[in-house]
Amino acid sequence: MSSYEWRIHHPEGQRRVVVTKELPGQRWLDILTAADCRVEICTSPDVLPTDAILAAIGTTCDAAIGQLTEPWGDDLFRALRQAGGSVYSNYAVGFNNVDVEAATRLGIPVGNTPGVLTDTTAEMAVTLTFAAARRIGEAERYLRAGQYKGWLPTLFLGELLIGKTVGIIGAGRIGATYARMMAEGHKMNVIYYDLYPNEELESYLAAYGDFLTSRGQAAVTCRRAGSIEELLQAADCISIHTVLDDTTRHLINAERLGLMKTNAVLVNTSRGPVIKEDDLVAHCRTHPDFRAGLDVFENEPVLAEGLNDLDNVVIVPHIASATSWTRQGMATLAASNVAGLLMGYPVWNRPDILPFLEENPPQAAPSILNADGLGLPLAEDP
Ligand code: DGY
Repeated sequence: MSSYEWRIHHPEGQRRVVVTKELPGQRWLDILTAADCRVEICTSPDVLPTDAILAAIGTTCDAAIGQLTEPWGDDLFRALRQAGGSVYSNYAVGFNNVDVEAATRLGIPVGNTPGVLTDTTAEMAVTLTFAAARRIGEAERYLRAGQYKGWLPTLFLGELLIGKTVGIIGAGRIGATYARMMAEGHKMNVIYYDLYPNEELESYLAAYGDFLTSRGQAAVTCRRAGSIEELLQAADCISIHTVLDDTTRHLINAERLGLMKTNAVLVNTSRGPVIKEDDLVAHCRTHPDFRAGLDVFENEPVLAEGLNDLDNVVIVPHIASATSWTRQGMATLAASNVAGLLMGYPVWNRPDILPFLEENPPQAAPSILNADGLGLPLAEDP
């Protein structure tokens, strides 16, 4: 073991599982205990460097649960394999920190934790949208600094979003949920950019539009943009919900920021490198009415130079999924991925992952990204 602090749960367990951070709740530990695992948990808050994880894996290790802050690549998967490991789960839905190809090559199944972050992350995107549009960070700093001398007609004028257009980049689970929150709650028209049409979202919002019309109100609309440029020009606020890969790195750069309305709101709860952060800083400096709400950053935990000084940017430290329910749910899913495969269960093949949070969960591993590539058996439909 390295010099970081570790605790051991269920030391008599026959299968050794390394967990690189403390996780919330008790249920995940019960799941691993029931699978006869000795669970070794790093209790230090520091991000573990690769050599510390290699040391923790050691010569005998059946499985690992890692964090999005750690680069799980060939070196770690090779060490896990050599130590007898047969499964890894990321404690995250996103897996841009994982070289899934390397894991597949080495025969290691890789799990993630979808389905329990959807509403929580969408709620944070909504929170950041309005915090930015209504200048909450600036106003709070002003008040706390004792600068408030009384109500003024011109104090912190922000943007009214009701009835305007919201743009969604990436209309998957979280993006579509955010879109519905903004359309249903704030009667915003939706434009989205995605490689694939989201027919469910479109038909849902068409039905909601019909409902509004039946009540004598203007219908909301929902359409897929033909290009990202079209979306950037049309939307009053834009929320990013895409994965990070080579096609989305620096998707938002100076040129594309220049296409957005000068008083637009840009929100990012996906992954920091989707925005070229230096370009955003420069844009916010020269466009004081432009606003941004950021949960993620290009080089976490470091912020681009100047970002911290900008009043038109609201920033929070990657907490979009930080509710107890979600973080405990993520722990349950990560543990179930590991325990499921150690117990020889098949892989769950349905989109609804919530049965794993219930009292009698399915006997399956909830979400294994490379199940197909490894030819793992799938759970039967009921
Ligand atoms: C994830 O799971 O990918 C999130 O970024 C964690 O908040």
